[in-house]
Amino acid sequence: MPNEKTLVVIGAQWGDEGKGKIIDLLSQNAEVVVRFNGGNNAGHTVIVDGKTYRFRLLPSGIISPKTLNVIATGVIINLNGLLEEIEEAEKNGLLIKNLYISDRSPLVLPYHILLDKFYEEKRGNKKIGTTARGIGPAYTDHFSRDTLHVGDLFDKEVFKEKLNYIYSLKKATLSSDFQLPPFEEVYNSQLNTFEKLMEKGVTITDTSKLIYDHIKAGKKILFEGAQGTLLDINFGTYPFVTSSFTISGGVCVGAGIPPQSINKVIGVIKAYTSRVGEGPFPSEIKDELAEIIREKGQEYGTVTRRPRRVGWLDFVALRYAKRINGFTELAITKLDVLSGLEKLKFVVAYKYKGRIIDEFPSSLNILEKCEPITEEISGWKQSLKNIKNYNDLPENVIKYKERIEKELETKITIIGTGPARDEIILLKDPWE
Ligand code: GDP
Ligand code: IMO
Ligand code: MG
Repeated sequence: MPNEKTLVVIGAQWGDEGKGKIIDLLSQNAEVVVRFNGGNNAGHTVIVDGKTYRFRLLPSGIISPKTLNVIATGVIINLNGLLEEIEEAEKNGLLIKNLYISDRSPLVLPYHILLDKFYEEKRGNKKIGTTARGIGPAYTDHFSRDTLHVGDLFDKEVFKEKLNYIYSLKKATLSSDFQLPPFEEVYNSQLNTFEKLMEKGVTITDTSKLIYDHIKAGKKILFEGAQGTLLDINFGTYPFVTSSFTISGGVCVGAGIPPQSINKVIGVIKAYTSRVGEGPFPSEIKDELAEIIREKGQEYGTVTRRPRRVGWLDFVALRYAKRINGFTELAITKLDVLSGLEKLKFVVAYKYKGRIIDEFPSSLNILEKCEPITEEISGWKQSLKNIKNYNDLPENVIKYKERIEKELETKITIIGTGPARDEIILLKDPWE
């Protein structure tokens, strides 16, 4: 069922591209905002009137008073984390209403979090650098069909029976080194939190039908991607990825809507690259410039506060992201962070064993050994603060933007010039 009014926002790199800020901008005119993948490993920052909001499970559209906010089936739910987040948002002055959660969403239970840490420890120097939110183990249980769903909590007896069965299964299959948290404690805390969420007016429902009805009614629907293309379980830099479908195709499987319901796909690109956690990163900057950019861009994890690794824009990776996601337009963030750098670089291809590679390699063994081939471009001295009009941007910012557009054969329609809500230049409204 085609709908002219559906927008998908996807991170084009390794996450933290500034999706939260773009979602906040677009949700001001949206009627529905939907999270469709990941869990509370996401950290989406929105800054409005000097106040900073960090959303993990809540759709970033929750700031806009009119939107319907949906956490769809592809998202895994840590109920305690969600309750904490709602309470934090309320303290921040937000009214949490119109929040709908899929009854089919898998639960992240306390043992998933313990398992995440346990596996990371056992991986030793092969660790992934996860956010320790239980994401991998919770999705694993989902795919092995040994999980509980949010909807199971409607009936205490059903929930108890299912949890009991899963506990017996876990006890029979897990290493004896691993201690499961006490059954009663998990059972009681899940029910307790579920009831508190009900009291707060959260609706647990068939979100696929809810979204379908809104698509059919021609409403404006915004799909908020979490993580980024290169963290996708199938198409990212496996095993240094997350465990969900982070690409635009993830909308269909995560929200339960048909492909023809998707209209536009906006790729969010940070003006340079960042990566938190382990894994190959061909355009990584390894000298003191990395520290300068990290400080200026405040590149520290929203969830874990870990320092993010930083690098140049990588056209090999971005062309791949464009192909996988079908970006129809682009948003670029954090151009302001590059102000003052005399020379900037793009990685245009890789060199592997003397050969030039311009397709993103699917083999990690190859990717790890790829040397970047770079192209230099002049930077700009001026600060971008307070620039509201495209024509007032320094000439070299425009050249930088146009070089990206040419490479990706896609227009940049949104330009971020600072972290706050109003530090943005909108060249073309994607809703039009
Ligand atoms: P997300 O996970 O993609 O939503 O991104 P994060 O919120 O984890 O990280 C992006 C960071 O950059 C946040 O601290 C934002 O406030 C900030 N940010 C977003 N856009 C801009 C921008 O255009 N300029 C600057 N300086 N900061 C930005
Ligand atoms: P947003 O939505 C950046 C990374 C972790 C780790 C890997 C696996 O804010 O862009 P996980 O806990 O998911 O099993 O960790 O994925 N990661 C992110 N990096 N932004 C994110 O989300 C991320 N979510 C997960 O750092 O390398
Ligand atoms: Mg983030």
